[in-house]
Amino acid sequence: MMLKVSHLTKIFGGLKAVDDASVEVAQGRIVALIGPNGAGKTTLFACIAGFLPSNQGKVELLGQDITGLPAHEISRRGMVRTFQITQPFAKLSVLENIAVGSHQLHARRADALDHARTVAERVGMPAAMLDQPAAELTVAGRKRLELARALATEPKLLLLDEVMAGLNPQEIVEIIAIIRKIRDSGVTILLIEHVMHAVMSLSEHIYVLSYGKIIAEGAPRDIVSNRDVVEAYLGRGAADQMAGVTGDAHA
Ligand SMILES: Nc1ncnc2c1ncn2[C@@H]1O[C@H](COP(=O)(O)OP(=O)(O)O)[C@@H](O)[C@H]1O
Ligand SMILES: [Mg+2]
Repeated sequence: MMLKVSHLTKIFGGLKAVDDASVEVAQGRIVALIGPNGAGKTTLFACIAGFLPSNQGKVELLGQDITGLPAHEISRRGMVRTFQITQPFAKLSVLENIAVGSHQLHARRADALDHARTVAERVGMPAAMLDQPAAELTVAGRKRLELARALATEPKLLLLDEVMAGLNPQEIVEIIAIIRKIRDSGVTILLIEHVMHAVMSLSEHIYVLSYGKIIAEGAPRDIVSNRDVVEAYLGRGAADQMAGVTGDAHA
């Protein structure tokens, strides 16, 4: 198993942001984590990747216990996350920002910059973009940079937090193709996403988080017809209403 998260709990003050969540990601897969705003998705990512300590639970990467290790050590071992709210080094160029990730494997600056160039190509950044200050990027550009920075560490497992948020339909089509290509190059992917058609077309397995708990998991077609999932998104009673509309009480 590439990633095995067992019974992870994260408490903020009195709030159980993540409540006994268990998630598995097999090597070579694209797995999605979905759920309403505030469900605890980003918090779960932060705990898995070593950005926040968890209160309980265990995280294993390729069979090794990495629970409690700091983020830079987890990154060195092959798991890296992107941030929902992108924070590039605004004054550095796009290329230099990517090279920050490349430095993990390439100590010499010139090597890191060369490597960053190949990573930029992998995420479909035009060469003209690379010398721009990161501050000047559009939303789509920033999302690609966030992806590139993570990819530059040459991860085995990539955690993507809403890399499609704020993109237009054409940009979403492009990033779906890029994510698929990254997976085909041998990187396992766990992604948080609200763009449902993207989740449906990309992922082979879906976990649903609601109020910190995993309330459902399964293949995409099972998840869309799961009444607990529909209700988590649309509120109590929604599944019955929808069943009434479609005439299928057991949808
Ligand atoms: N650093 C924090 N301190 C206190 N509460 C937090 C913190 N981060 C997130 N939360 C709370 O934890 C819950 C889950 O948030 P989050 O993980 O961002 O959800 P999601 O990514 O699913 O939208 C929310 O109620 C949020 O307000
Ligand atoms: Mg979030």
